Amino acid sequence: MDSSDQSMNELERSGAKSFFETAPPLKNSDLISDKLKEFVRRNSESATPRSIVCVTSGGTTVPLEQRCVRYIDNFSSGYRGAASTEYFVKVGYAVIFVHRRGSYQPYCRYLPEDSFLDFVQLDEESNIQVPEDRAAMVKKSIREYHKAVGEGLLLKLPFTTIFEYLQILQLVATSINCFGCHSMFYLAAAVSDFYVPWESMAEHKIQSASGPLDMRLNQVPKMLSVLRKEWAPAAFCVSFKLETDPDILIQKADAALKRYGMNVVAANLLANYKEEVVVVTSNGKTIVRRNSKDDDLEEQLVALLSKTHSEYIQLVAL
Ligand code: PMT
Repeated sequence: MDSSDQSMNELERSGAKSFFETAPPLKNSDLISDKLKEFVRRNSESATPRSIVCVTSGGTTVPLEQRCVRYIDNFSSGYRGAASTEYFVKVGYAVIFVHRRGSYQPYCRYLPEDSFLDFVQLDEESNIQVPEDRAAMVKKSIREYHKAVGEGLLLKLPFTTIFEYLQILQLVATSINCFGCHSMFYLAAAVSDFYVPWESMAEHKIQSASGPLDMRLNQVPKMLSVLRKEWAPAAFCVSFKLETDPDILIQKADAALKRYGMNVVAANLLANYKEEVVVVTSNGKTIVRRNSKDDDLEEQLVALLSKTHSEYIQLVAL
C-alpha cells in the first residue's frame, strides 16, 4: 500500500467516524442487536455449517428536515434484493435482509403492483379466496416464507434513512464477523452519496415563503473500505455499481474492485439492469443475462456468486 492509499483510507476512516458521531441515534438499536445475536447463535450452532449473507436492498433517503416532511430518495424498488434473498436461502445461506421499508419483500414480490383488494375475492359465503390461477403461487410463497423463517434462515431488518442504513450495516457487520470467510455482503441497496448532516439540518418544515431554497449537501463517506478493513475483514464482499453511461461502467467497477478491496463488483446500467449484470472480479468479467421474461436474472447471479464464494472459502482454508 502506498502513502496515497494510506491517506485515502485515513480520510475514509475519519469521515465514517464523524458521520456516526453526528448521526441521530438508531431507534431500537438494542432490539436489533438482540435479534442479530439470536440469529447468529442459531446459525452458528446448526448441525450443518452454514454460510451467512447480508443482502441490502432498496434506496436510502436523505431527510431535509429533522421533523421530516421532505427528503431526497434514491432509485431502487428492492426487487433485486428480495429476489436474491429467496435464491440465497434456496442454495443454503442464512440471510439478513436489510431493506427499505415499503420496498419489495422476499416471497411476495408479486404483491406491490397488485393491490391486495384486487388480488383476493369473496365467495358467496363471504370467505376470502385467492383466484385459482394464482392459488398455486400464493401457497408456494407462504410455504417457502414460513420454512425460511421457521428454520432461522431469514432475518428482516428495515431502514428508511441513510443514517439508519449505515448504522444497521455496521451492527450487522460486527455481529457476523465471527463467520469469517463464511460471511458474504451483497450490497444491492442504492445508497445516497450526498446528505445534510443532522446538526446543520432545519428542525421544522422549511418554509416556501422564504423564496428559493439554497442547500449544501455533504458527501456521505464511502463505507465500503471501512466495511472491508474494519468491520468484516474476512468477509466475501459483493458491491454493485450502477451507472447510466455505458462508456464508464466497467472502468468504474474495476476502480471499485481495487479501491475498496471488493471480491466482486456487479456492474449494471439503469437502462437494462433487469436484463444484464457484468460480474467483475480480479480474474476477469462474466456477463449474466436473463434467459427470458419469466426468469429472474438473480437466480443465475446468486448461483455464480455462491460458487465464487465457495472457491474463496477453500482458498482461505489452504
Ligand atoms: O432494487 P431494484 O429496482 O431491483 O434495482 C437494483 C439496483 C439497480 C439498485 C442494483 O442492482 C444496484 O445497482 N445497486 C447499487 C446502487 C448504487 O448505490 O450504486 P453506486 O454506484 O452509487 O454505489 C456503488 C456501491 O457503493 C454500492 O454497493 C453502495 O452500497 C456503496 N456506497 C454508495 C454510496 C456511499 N455513500 N457509500 C457506499 O458504500
